[in-house]
Amino acid sequence: MIGRLNHVAIAVRDIAKAAVYRDTLGAEISAKVAQPDHGVSTVFITLPNTKIELLEPLGAGSPINKFLEKNPDGGIHHLCYEVSDIIAARDTLKAQGARVLGDGEPRIGAHGKPVMFLHPKDFCGTLVELEQA
Ligand code: CO
Repeated sequence: MIGRLNHVAIAVRDIAKAAVYRDTLGAEISAKVAQPDHGVSTVFITLPNTKIELLEPLGAGSPINKFLEKNPDGGIHHLCYEVSDIIAARDTLKAQGARVLGDGEPRIGAHGKPVMFLHPKDFCGTLVELEQA
């Protein structure tokens, strides 16, 4: 069902820390983009085989606030896998007992494509994002 690893998302309190990927690791990093619909600001780091998505909270109700309370130095927040048909993937996963977060309907994600999140307890303790490729 799952295809490529689309990105690894890392939550940080201060997204300026993304500079370490440019200055120390020599990667290309994007400008910071506010994503008010998602309660985060993002910086993307493009690697040859995938992307790293740095997330910084935007607004008091940011969905990553709780994570950063538990992980004040930041940390890996989720992994995003590509699927060819997100509705078919959801229906298959639900039939196997996996929990889809939110109302179970895909939303438009940070890349303008439909996404949904799966409960970390069902996937080895890792929050999983599915993105329709
Ligand atoms: Co993501």
